[in-house]
Amino acid sequence: LLPGKTRKPAAWTPVGELAELQPGAPTEMMFRRNRADGWKVTSEKTSAWVVKTGDNDVVAFAPGCTHLGCAYHWDEQGRHFLCPCHTSTFGLDGKVLSGPAPRPLDRFEAKVQNGKVLIGPIRKGGAA
Ligand code: FES
Repeated sequence: LLPGKTRKPAAWTPVGELAELQPGAPTEMMFRRNRADGWKVTSEKTSAWVVKTGDNDVVAFAPGCTHLGCAYHWDEQGRHFLCPCHTSTFGLDGKVLSGPAPRPLDRFEAKVQNGKVLIGPIRKGGAA
């Protein structure tokens, strides 16, 4: 067993600086995270749409549309998240504005520490 190596993937991944974020302007932050699949841990590239909601608060949405998993983006003109596949739209809070998406965007656990945005495990449901 190697000292300093743990089998458990780190719970919190730093993804960027809080200073990069403006309230009301979701920012896509890319990061790598470890994913445990039984005994096997693989590193995968993913992203989160991070929204600053307070001086020291952020929410982080998982990158896949809750309809069929397409990558959506923030549409600055419409002021909503827009999925290009079947044109679902979501509000700044992740709630469905128009379907076919059946539920709000999924969220990662997220927190701010020392000015850094940290992303934790995904939590399904997206309830505010
Ligand atoms: Fe996003 Fe269908 S996958 S609307």
